[in-house]
Amino acid sequence: MAGNSFGTLFKLTSFGESHGELIGGVIDGCPAGLNLDVARIQAKLDRRKPGQSGISSERKEEDLVRIHSGIFDGITTGTPIGFTILNKDNRSKDYAHLKDVYRPGHADYAYQAKYGLRDYRGGGRSSARETAVRVVAGAIAEQILSVFNIEIRAFVQGVGKISLEKEVDWESIPDSENNTVRCPDLKTAEKMKKLIESVRNEGDSTGGVIECRIRGLFAGLGSPVFDKLNALLAHAMVSINAVKGVEFGSGFSSAAMKGSRYRDEFRIEGGEPKYSSNNSGGITGGISNGNELVFRVAFNPVTSIPKLAKASNTSGESQSLSVQGRHDPCVVPRAVPVIEAMAAITVLDQFLARRSDKI
Ligand SMILES: Cc1cc2nc3c(=O)[nH]c(=O)nc-3n(C[C@H](O)[C@H](O)[C@H](O)COP(=O)(O)O)c2cc1C
Repeated sequence: MAGNSFGTLFKLTSFGESHGELIGGVIDGCPAGLNLDVARIQAKLDRRKPGQSGISSERKEEDLVRIHSGIFDGITTGTPIGFTILNKDNRSKDYAHLKDVYRPGHADYAYQAKYGLRDYRGGGRSSARETAVRVVAGAIAEQILSVFNIEIRAFVQGVGKISLEKEVDWESIPDSENNTVRCPDLKTAEKMKKLIESVRNEGDSTGGVIECRIRGLFAGLGSPVFDKLNALLAHAMVSINAVKGVEFGSGFSSAAMKGSRYRDEFRIEGGEPKYSSNNSGGITGGISNGNELVFRVAFNPVTSIPKLAKASNTSGESQSLSVQGRHDPCVVPRAVPVIEAMAAITVLDQFLARRSDKI
């Protein structure tokens, strides 16, 4: 199975399955000399781990990261960083009834068709448990970026049909950590939480939207034509489980705008561009343009739900299926640190590539 690495200069290779012994990763290309704050990595993992609130999967994982290489006296050495996270609370027996059935909306049938076999315990490699590995690599990338004052913040913008309509300023994004939904507006967060609880009580689930912003990004990041910054970010985002859409700036709504409204007017002040709008989301021609980088990511509702579905078993017979076990009724609260992580890895990779731009 190829396709387990992401990035060129800062490159993450991830390994492991949901119900195997452990999951982990190797980061090749992490620059030497970073005073690595492991507590900051762990804090990111704690925001992703299951069992963290009443509206997430009840699987209880400590998700403690162990770093095995690439660090000496707390400082990165430039050699590969190898790390692991143990799987402790994997109740594989909960999945025994799925051995011979393909769950609709899951990767079961596609994996079987492609590889001729599959690990049915918790979805194996197709499980979003793998995203914990990305969070570790992303937390390291974020620490490097913060040395250069590049900061990434994400929050939940929508759950089902409930959207945060207010403008969110940069300073209020951290408020989203004060509620279990991770929406910076408490009133909207309460409504979202109620919706998540009600779909869960119905044995169902709901999707949602996460918005991500990146500040401190100067003009000039991205490698046209195939490695445009927006193309790389879209690749990074769509590689996350359950992601069904990505939009930059005014995104799909820009299709209904006139050019006179869409174009982001700017003037140069003290050598820096000052924009009066941000419909392009901070990227033009595939290159960061000095405006704040803004994009949103849409997640589908999870499909492992108790509500009965028509499913096919491996012998081709139809059967009704109710998926039991511990599942997220809505993934967006836990996916916020995953979005931040993939954004950090992508931006750092392009940041490192900048040395090849000009003399
Ligand atoms: C953080 C996170 C947690 C998830 N938790 C669940 C879950 O508990 N149950 C489930 O059915 N899907 C869950 N998913 C989604 C599945 O992993 C995903 O839908 C499935 O692997 C099929 O892949 P696809 O939706 O990308 O096609 C989660 C996704 C993320 C990002």
